[in-house]
Amino acid sequence: MKNPGDHILTELDRMTEHSVYGRVTAIVGLMIEVQGVEGELSIGDRCRLIGRGERKVMCEVVGFRNERALLMPFGTLDGIGLGSRAEISLTDPLIYPDISWMGRVVNAFGEPVDGQGPLIKGPKPYRVHAKPPHAHERQRVGGKIDLGIRALNAFLTCCRGQRLGIFSGSGVGKSTVMSMMARHTEAEISVIGLIGERGREAREFIEDDLGEDGMARSVVVVATSDEPPLVRRQAAYVLMAISEFFRDQQKDVLCLMDSVTRFAMAQREISLSAGEPPASKGYTPSVFAELPRLLERAGPGGVGQGSITGLFTVLVEGDDHNEPVADAVRGILDGHVVLDRAIAERGRYPAINILRSVSRTMPDCNTVEENEVINRARKYLATYEDMAELIRLGAYRRGSDGAVDEAIHYYPGIEGFLSQTIEDHSPLATCYDELRAILGMQVAGVDDDAAPPPQPEQPLPPPPPAPPEQSPELSPEGTSDLQVEEAVVEEPVQSMGEQTLSAETLQQLNSIE
Ligand SMILES: Nc1ncnc2c1ncn2[C@@H]1O[C@H](COP(=O)(O)OP(=O)(O)OP(=O)(O)O)[C@@H](O)[C@H]1O
Ligand SMILES: [Mg+2]
Repeated sequence: MKNPGDHILTELDRMTEHSVYGRVTAIVGLMIEVQGVEGELSIGDRCRLIGRGERKVMCEVVGFRNERALLMPFGTLDGIGLGSRAEISLTDPLIYPDISWMGRVVNAFGEPVDGQGPLIKGPKPYRVHAKPPHAHERQRVGGKIDLGIRALNAFLTCCRGQRLGIFSGSGVGKSTVMSMMARHTEAEISVIGLIGERGREAREFIEDDLGEDGMARSVVVVATSDEPPLVRRQAAYVLMAISEFFRDQQKDVLCLMDSVTRFAMAQREISLSAGEPPASKGYTPSVFAELPRLLERAGPGGVGQGSITGLFTVLVEGDDHNEPVADAVRGILDGHVVLDRAIAERGRYPAINILRSVSRTMPDCNTVEENEVINRARKYLATYEDMAELIRLGAYRRGSDGAVDEAIHYYPGIEGFLSQTIEDHSPLATCYDELRAILGMQVAGVDDDAAPPPQPEQPLPPPPPAPPEQSPELSPEGTSDLQVEEAVVEEPVQSMGEQTLSAETLQQLNSIE
């Protein structure tokens, strides 16, 4: 039988204490100064301001100056003036998540905003500002997790408890990649935070992108861009607290946040208002202190717990991937997925730039054979990218370099593999076999007729040097590379200048002349 004392203790836990009062002495912009609370408050504590007509405004302590506490409000300051009472809440902000929250949309306070009635309060309080678990208490990252996106599953494999960032400039497809993952992932539960994004997007994301199936195994936390900075920041903390609850229920949670940049911007607004001097691009030092505190909360849990796999989108301002927030986040996370505007502009979605992206759990999480296929595809991509300019301008002639010929041959197949429509679900189990088939490598137990010659182990023999005005020899099956070459041969080679051609090609051309 349950001890009756337990019940009382739980209720006591839930009680918030209001014993000390302060008074508002100044309001500047969004910053409120409260006097008479020395020794009673610390950073992150809550206060309730009581204004005209008993209007209550919840605030958070963000700093101290001249023995006064500096507060920022969670709502508008209508009705609050000099002398308004400030009730002090001595407890940390808490939420009470429950397993029944699955399928629901909540705000930054853990309150329902989907019009489907009240939420059931869970038995245990979770601190909104919880600390990340200690490094030595954590397990190692687990096995691979299926994200449903071919390019990620194969080239940037993510493991349970890993944290990946999705980086791009505006409008390159971060939110779309995130919604594809939320919809197609095999994770038991997704906790999704729409932090500081457009209000329109939140509804579209929930109804169109996630759909009923996706929503049934998700909890969504929403704070749109029009909400005060404290609310936007708190939504990110609540997202992590809900993820921690499910992790403690031994679930493998996929925690998606769109976007970390908006969280950083909210923190910047808060700290600038509190008088903190800006450091880099207007971001204050506390932004860079707060980022690891938030992002480290994702990761593997302790013994007997599940894991939180974190996927965070990062908006890089002006497509500068070295701007301070992107740089800081890249340093904290276990991998970064770079979306490239140039790739999106040529219509290949998701616009993942494989060569600039890294998953730090690879190659250890793969078998030798899987790494072999990935390395070969990467090699072709790198060789092609190196020569792309010359190929497009018609300065490269087939046969000059066997490795480049191979790369040209396989490039269209790899590009096809990397593109995926929003509705398409691509399982992790089959991605390596698909890629093997494209690269003409042996696929165990599969009779492969999609594999085009030549075999990559034997580089193409260079064809006899062709005069500049003639079309070079092409492999009979090479259809897509044929287009590349056809576009090439129309232009005279000499227009490129001799220094752009390989020494070998020049020698061949000279011998013809
Ligand atoms: N997989 C895809 N297939 C087709 N189109 C896509 C795909 N991904 C993105 N797009 C196109 O790119 C546009 C912008 O995508 P999205 O809103 O995901 O970008 P974003 O990086 O999140 O932008 P922002 O930084 O403004 O939030 C979409 O409206 C869509 O037209
Ligand atoms: Mg977006």
